[in-house]
Amino acid sequence: MIEASAPGGIAPHVRPQIESNPYRGTASNSYSMKTLESGARIPPAAGDAAAPILSLQSVTKDHNTETEPVRALSNVSLAVEAGRFVALVGRSGCGKSTLLHLAGAMDFPTSGHVILDGIATDSLNETGLTHLRREKVGFIFQSFQLLHTLSVAENVELPLLLAGNARPRRQALERLAAVGLADLSDRMPHQLSGGQMQRVAIARALVHSPRILLADEPTGNLDSTTGNAILELLRRISLEQQTTILMATHSAEFSSFVDAVVRMRDGRIEGVLRC
Ligand SMILES: Nc1ncnc2c1ncn2[C@@H]1O[C@H](COP(=O)(O)OP(=O)(O)O)[C@@H](O)[C@H]1O
Ligand SMILES: [Mg+2]
Repeated sequence: MIEASAPGGIAPHVRPQIESNPYRGTASNSYSMKTLESGARIPPAAGDAAAPILSLQSVTKDHNTETEPVRALSNVSLAVEAGRFVALVGRSGCGKSTLLHLAGAMDFPTSGHVILDGIATDSLNETGLTHLRREKVGFIFQSFQLLHTLSVAENVELPLLLAGNARPRRQALERLAAVGLADLSDRMPHQLSGGQMQRVAIARALVHSPRILLADEPTGNLDSTTGNAILELLRRISLEQQTTILMATHSAEFSSFVDAVVRMRDGRIEGVLRC
């Protein structure tokens, strides 16, 4: 399930404006887009727990600058159930990356709360935050962010090493096989294509089996065919592993892959569409 509220309230009391799908007709497979019913609810997948894996409760975020604070999110409320694949869309500057950083406890609201798997991110000390991020969150980026002095396998096993796992190689190789890169584990990142680099980043983000994968424009540096293959991979991961995925994107190609689209504008949620 996903719920979202329009500015000024917390779901489900306030209903967001639900609009018709601007991307209708672009879907290339059977996940056709439907306008969400009033109330912005998407039923959870079979077997989901009732509690949302992620909820933002009346979140406002101001970024400090040398002059005056910049308001990036304005009273945003959103709840995402486990196992959903959700796209966040909207123009550059509308607050997508800020929302993802708050969702991953990399940053904190100016007011309101972010609850990740039942834990308020603003309730933890540094040690608690480190554990929360390590155990529950995976992040992938437009620019892949691989460590170029490490091999593919070393990149993927790094989160496990940092978490104290002394023999992470087998798990890393399993993840690489799951993203179709079993044969490339000994390569260095510069020996890979962009699509292969993003697959390595996905394997790394998932190697510790996080509850939620946060993806910031993961296809932004890829051509559309390669980007679609990455979206297909994310779709498969969310279905097979019940990993919740929240993905910021500019792309209109996404609608055929995701369960819901949250459309943002000027730091607010404008509407939610079920796909
Ligand atoms: N670290 C920061 N310091 C100051 N302003 C920021 C910072 N990060 C983002 N912003 C501002 O917050 C707003 C939302 O940015 P962002 O979340 O990056 O949007 P998007 O990812 O949708 O492009 C923009 O006005 C941006 O300039
Ligand atoms: Mg961004």
